[in-house]
Amino acid sequence: MAIERMAVIGGGQMGSGIAQVAAQAGVHVTIADATPELARKAVDKLGATLAKLVEKGKLSAADRDAAIGRIRAASTLEDCAGADLAIEAIVENEGVKKELFKKLDALLGPNAILASNTSSISITALAAATRRPERVIGMHWMNPPPVMQLIEIIRGLQTSDATYAEILALAKRCGKTTVTSKDVPGFIVNRILIPLINEACFALQEGLATPEDIDTGVKLGLNHPMGPLTLADFIGLDTCLYIAEVLHRELGDDKYRPAALLRQYVAAGWYGRKAGRGFYKYA
Ligand code: NAI
Repeated sequence: MAIERMAVIGGGQMGSGIAQVAAQAGVHVTIADATPELARKAVDKLGATLAKLVEKGKLSAADRDAAIGRIRAASTLEDCAGADLAIEAIVENEGVKKELFKKLDALLGPNAILASNTSSISITALAAATRRPERVIGMHWMNPPPVMQLIEIIRGLQTSDATYAEILALAKRCGKTTVTSKDVPGFIVNRILIPLINEACFALQEGLATPEDIDTGVKLGLNHPMGPLTLADFIGLDTCLYIAEVLHRELGDDKYRPAALLRQYVAAGWYGRKAGRGFYKYA
């Protein structure tokens, strides 16, 4: 079954980017958030983003209008009932995500796919909150979804071959490259990235160097497009800490313990770019 109607739950940095890519690929997208105002705000922001692409000559006005015409804001979660696929990009918290999966399971048609953009939470555990574990899958987009080429696909213990094939087809339609991971904490990308970011936090905590020098060291020394602290600010320090905690708890190895400095910044509300302050200050 081709996916023509998609619901994105959580219109934050990831959800809005996913909605943009899907709408530009011809999929009808409904964005839902914790309140109708937040969903509306996400849709309005997408309108501005697409307008900027037209200004820069990267998108035609006709394609922008067509994409905007395919995106709508949900007043309530019930507005997502007709979707072939619901993908959630809400807060990285297992209990909250399970609660949402339970609601979506009750709301959507029996053949609809329920996907999670989770960075680290077990797809098998999320699937167990539904009566359709074979239709539950991880579809982990990279940040920002319109720019990044990769989507990591995670098969839960019971994900069916049909579900996997439909999600691969959608990723291809969106012009993305996929990799497939087993359902293990952090999957492929965050299993490797989060220990790197956490190590940069330890280095800063120990006074090894300034944030700028840690980032420049990795950027130029390892040929990374940006340093780990800049990247952590971009991802959100709350999200980084949550993933680090999952790796530590689930893999049971102390090498994954989150740096105290990371915990402290999150406790202070210094979540990175989205909060105006993380390892760096943003206007
Ligand atoms: P964000 O904080 O920018 O957005 C989350 C959105 O979800 C907000 O609009 C919030 O109002 C909404 N929300 C929270 N709880 C909700 C609920 N119960 N029902 C409906 N809406 C709710 O977070 P971000 O960065 O977009 O992350 C979302 C998910 O994507 C997380 O699971 C995260 O781990 C994952 N992710 C994040 C990446 C990143 O670089 N930030 C990269 C890849 C995945």
